[in-house]
Amino acid sequence: QNTITATLFPGDGIGPEIANSVKEVFRQAQVPIQWEEHYIGNTVDPRTGSFVTYESMESVRRNGIGLKGPMTTPIGKGHKSLNLALRKELGLYANVRPCLSIPGHKTRYDNVDLVTIRENTEGEYSGLEHQVVRGVVESLKIITRQASSRVAEYAFHYAEVHGRKRVSAIHKANIMKKTDGLFLQCCREVAENYPNIVYEEVIIDNCCMMMGEWRTTRRISFETTTKHSGFCHGIFSLVKNPALFDVLVMPNLYGDIISDLCAGLIGGLGLTPSGNIGDNGLALMEAVHGTAPDIAGKNMANPTALLLSSVMMLKHLGLNDQAESIHKAILKTIEEGKYLTGDIGGSAGTSEYTKAVCENLQ
Ligand code: IPM
Ligand code: MN
Repeated sequence: QNTITATLFPGDGIGPEIANSVKEVFRQAQVPIQWEEHYIGNTVDPRTGSFVTYESMESVRRNGIGLKGPMTTPIGKGHKSLNLALRKELGLYANVRPCLSIPGHKTRYDNVDLVTIRENTEGEYSGLEHQVVRGVVESLKIITRQASSRVAEYAFHYAEVHGRKRVSAIHKANIMKKTDGLFLQCCREVAENYPNIVYEEVIIDNCCMMMGEWRTTRRISFETTTKHSGFCHGIFSLVKNPALFDVLVMPNLYGDIISDLCAGLIGGLGLTPSGNIGDNGLALMEAVHGTAPDIAGKNMANPTALLLSSVMMLKHLGLNDQAESIHKAILKTIEEGKYLTGDIGGSAGTSEYTKAVCENLQ
């Protein structure tokens, strides 16, 4: 088997510890991956004009695949989040966050198995904010046909190849008629080409919580030629019945918020993976949680989110056997419950948990 080179950004805070855990598990599972490690965030690289170094960008572009730990946003005026800089520079237009119940970790929800797909390049994240006059500031939300169609296409294609049945577009087009309206229009157009996948539209607040049983979506102001109705029925909301959701596609900021809510359904950000996908299969997987400086360096961090992100990475590379085996070992370790980290009710350290995962590999 050929060795694949992948970029690794261990990141800050608990990042290096959880990255070590991934390295250790990969070694034990004999995953044919060689890491190319980069630390970013120390100084501004004049060639990129940001803290993200030229070499690190080149590394991801060359390898086409990477894994990143959490990163601290540099302090000071004009310094943007490294996470956002990476997404932007590398054109990582879709953010994919699978959210799957972990059988050994009980929450009040069973059988959650959904995927949020978030537009990753524009919306309120365009960074266009300014003061109009004193006391009045303005932030521009950019929605383009190009980015909306691209992420919609990604969502439907994802649904198709993963055998999923339904794509829900999450929006607030009843109020933001132009911006979210365009987003929905793009989703509807793409839906036309996927007749075997149910398409529906859910207003974001209803999506979070809805009382009673009613039609969640009203037809909104623009015409549509789609054969899909755009209506959905039943008690259908994330906090009431998340198991009814399948693939959710949405603009950037909604995706940021909804994906955290979904993580909460299955036990928190320590347990949920994430992947940023760009053109030509370029992919950078990452844990969604932050750097947790309070517990950094104390062998307390839960590496599960980054481990699951690394499983996503292996699947992306077609290394399905190793992906499966690591995924099962993680689930088994959590189910056994002997070596859990503090955030999920145990008292084991990062390294003990990692060792248990390694021992559960088959
Ligand atoms: C996420 C994070 C980032 C975001 C932050 C760290 C910039 O919350 O990946 O969801 O807002 O997208
Ligand atoms: Mn977030």
